[in-house]
Amino acid sequence: MGTGRTTAVNCHCMTCLYILIISLRHCMSTDILSKDSPMSLTQTLVSSNQVYELGFFNPANSTNRYLGIWFKNIAEKTIIWVANRENPISISENRSTLTIANDGNLRILDGNQKTVWSTNVRGQFNGTIAQLTDMGDFCINDTTSGSILWESFDYPGNSLLPGMKLGTKGNTQGKHLMSSWKSDDDPTPGSFVVGLSAEQPPQVFIWINSKPNWRSGPWDGGKFIGIPEQDAGYSELVNLMPGNSQEGAYLTINLLKSSHIQRLYLQPDGVFRLKYWGDGSGIRNVSWEVPASPCDVYGVCGAYAICTNEKSPICDCLRGFVPHSKDKWSKGNWTRGCVRRSELFCEKNVTSLASSKTKPDQFQMLKGIKLPDHHHYFPYMDTDECQQWCLGNCSCKAYAYVQGIYCMVWIEELMDIEQFSYGGENLFLRLSYADSGKCKFL
Ligand SMILES: *[C@@H]1O[C@H](CO)[C@@H](O)[C@H](O)[C@H]1NC(C)=O
Ligand SMILES: *[C@@H]1O[C@H](CO)[C@@H](O)[C@H](O)[C@H]1NC(C)=O
Ligand SMILES: *[C@@H]1O[C@H](CO)[C@@H](O)[C@H](O)[C@H]1NC(C)=O
Ligand SMILES: *[C@@H]1O[C@H](CO)[C@@H](O)[C@H](O)[C@H]1NC(C)=O
Ligand SMILES: *[C@@H]1O[C@H](CO)[C@@H](O)[C@H](O)[C@H]1NC(C)=O
Ligand SMILES: *[C@@H]1O[C@H](CO)[C@@H](O)[C@H](O)[C@H]1NC(C)=O
Ligand SMILES: *[C@@H]1O[C@H](CO)[C@@H](O)[C@H](O)[C@H]1NC(C)=O
Ligand SMILES: *[C@@H]1O[C@H](CO)[C@@H](O)[C@H](O)[C@H]1NC(C)=O
Repeated sequence: MGTGRTTAVNCHCMTCLYILIISLRHCMSTDILSKDSPMSLTQTLVSSNQVYELGFFNPANSTNRYLGIWFKNIAEKTIIWVANRENPISISENRSTLTIANDGNLRILDGNQKTVWSTNVRGQFNGTIAQLTDMGDFCINDTTSGSILWESFDYPGNSLLPGMKLGTKGNTQGKHLMSSWKSDDDPTPGSFVVGLSAEQPPQVFIWINSKPNWRSGPWDGGKFIGIPEQDAGYSELVNLMPGNSQEGAYLTINLLKSSHIQRLYLQPDGVFRLKYWGDGSGIRNVSWEVPASPCDVYGVCGAYAICTNEKSPICDCLRGFVPHSKDKWSKGNWTRGCVRRSELFCEKNVTSLASSKTKPDQFQMLKGIKLPDHHHYFPYMDTDECQQWCLGNCSCKAYAYVQGIYCMVWIEELMDIEQFSYGGENLFLRLSYADSGKCKFL
């Protein structure tokens, strides 16, 4: 520094100062974008502890360029967020910049100063800056008020990082849902979306073109009951924040150690995985993914059927039910599912009942299963009240009483049931006396 100053005195002061500024700009990474210094294609922002980097990138085999965020210290570039997923810039466009416009918004401009992508902060803000944090969040801060006007964490792409929220579908105005890339080298939104369902308690869903492709089962206060814990090792890593009436619930993943890579990631093929890289210091490597087995796929056996990965074929009708179409079922087409074998007592014609000798419906317990979709929820009922409610309503097809959730009943068709080899819950299935197996001794 001393010699630098000596030279500075010896030459044209302005030139030296200029060179000094230019070289500082090149050597020192910054985490802040300000109004007077747009970021060019070759520049990047680096978070203060060198965890994340933001800049323009060009995926392999692609002629498109995107603005993205990646882990700074991982050799293989892992993009965790992309700004202009639907508005790429051509790689031949070499004068693009990222700027903060006078209205306070971030803008990607092409060489003709045309806006390719921008945020939509409304209002008049004089002192806005954008900053890349060590959590991987890119924020627009209003330095006059100290408030955050916009943040990339509200718009996850295919990755959920600690600090980001996974929200409820339908309640978030397009925020807080994850969506897959079209392919590994195309960040355009693909067919898969991940978010929470709006019911109580919520479930995580993977949707393919808006149809369910996997679900986690409802949250019991510590875990999702459709993911047996031994498999997952995820429950210490995942939190569900209770829903509020406007926005519903949020799922977050915990930050165990900032130097560790941890993210939930939705692949282009719809596989959803949780990745934690441990370093042997008490934090283990976790890599969990779904769908991982045939029975993970939503409703693979159709209605009133149960899926068992260890069986061949994997699908069986529930007790008391027979295939809707024997022919298709035997050929392995399970889409139509199963139908009830014999009418329930509660469905029978009351006037003709007196003459018949049938007995009231029974409940059959199915052990260790992934409970069906479309539950109705009675948080205040105990197990007896739950059973009585179900028995008293002919539309009630089954009930379950689960620690941490309490009473759940099923009115609609029973869909997406799996027999687990360990863990799982008990389902009490309503059957006619004849189908319950209790009449064989008569
Ligand atoms: C790019 O294309 C080459 C040759 O077609 C292929 O081997 C490679 O896997 C592709 N890379 C990506 C990331 O798709
Ligand atoms: C930008 O692209 C134009 C035309 O494609 C080319 O003539 C020019 O040299 C490029 N400039 C830089 C800095 O790469
Ligand atoms: C923004 O800054 C300009 C110049 O410093 C000033 O004239 C103007 O009043 C400011 N506007 C607001 C909304 O603070
Ligand atoms: C901008 O907001 C983020 C998120 O709250 C914060 O971490 C950061 O310190 C803020 N930066 C400035 C310069 O105010
Ligand atoms: C976790 O995975 C990383 C990368 O694959 C590996 O280097 C490390 O040894 C693993 N740590 C443990 C505790 O298994
Ligand atoms: C299975 O049956 C349904 C109608 O029940 C039909 O639409 C579908 O194409 C069949 N699937 C296969 C793989 O044959
Ligand atoms: C019920 O049974 C009575 C006597 O068998 C018959 O007249 C009546 O039509 C039946 N009602 C229905 C809804 O099936
Ligand atoms: C049975 O429960 C459903 C759903 O809660 C309700 O709509 C229906 O009225 C109930 N039926 C009777 C007979 O209570």
